[in-house]
Amino acid sequence: MERTRIAVLVSGSGSNLQALIDASHDPDFGAEIAVVIADRPHVQALDRAAAQGIDHAVVSWSDFSDRVAFTIAICDVAQRHEVAGLMLAGFMRILTPAAIEQYPNAIINVHPALLPAFPGADAVGQALAHGVTVTGVTVHFVDEQVDHGPIILQEAVAVRSDDTVAALHRRIQRIEHRVFPRVVDAFGKGLLSVEGRRVVWAPQ
Ligand code: GRF
Repeated sequence: MERTRIAVLVSGSGSNLQALIDASHDPDFGAEIAVVIADRPHVQALDRAAAQGIDHAVVSWSDFSDRVAFTIAICDVAQRHEVAGLMLAGFMRILTPAAIEQYPNAIINVHPALLPAFPGADAVGQALAHGVTVTGVTVHFVDEQVDHGPIILQEAVAVRSDDTVAALHRRIQRIEHRVFPRVVDAFGKGLLSVEGRRVVWAPQ
């Protein structure tokens, strides 16, 4: 089976990238990581890619004066690697609609809260500060608005009374590392389709 080529976009430690790398060792996994793109140099995610011999590139946010040029540069790298989709694994930048036009229903993000609650940065801290007793993970397609596109999969995580942001985020990430590869596998196998705001999973 030919695997679908994907780019994984990262900004930090890359534990979700690592989960994708580990999942892709299964010959039945639907996607192949063609390139890892970071928005800054020297992040651990780049070391993880290098350790596996995966092509990696830095498109440094600080080299660009605006989001338009930054998005074009990211898409250029992705296009050169002939990918069919962009997987945002802890990528902390917002791309312009040009990326969505180039990759319609093919940009996927993992967010550490149950959207539409707590979009944006520090979702775990926001949830804790709000006093919710349940939060979780959302994997969704990216559209023109931040943390807003059609939801592919969600899983809940209970908040404990003595939780800290770090402890809660750790439990959330454990779920992310299971569900994000599952979604990327389904994307790679062409099982996901979008009908309005709903995502339909085709049976495997
Ligand atoms: C994850 O918790 C993800 O939900 C959020 O950023 C974090 C990235 O972690 N968007 P990592 O770089 O994958 O370890």
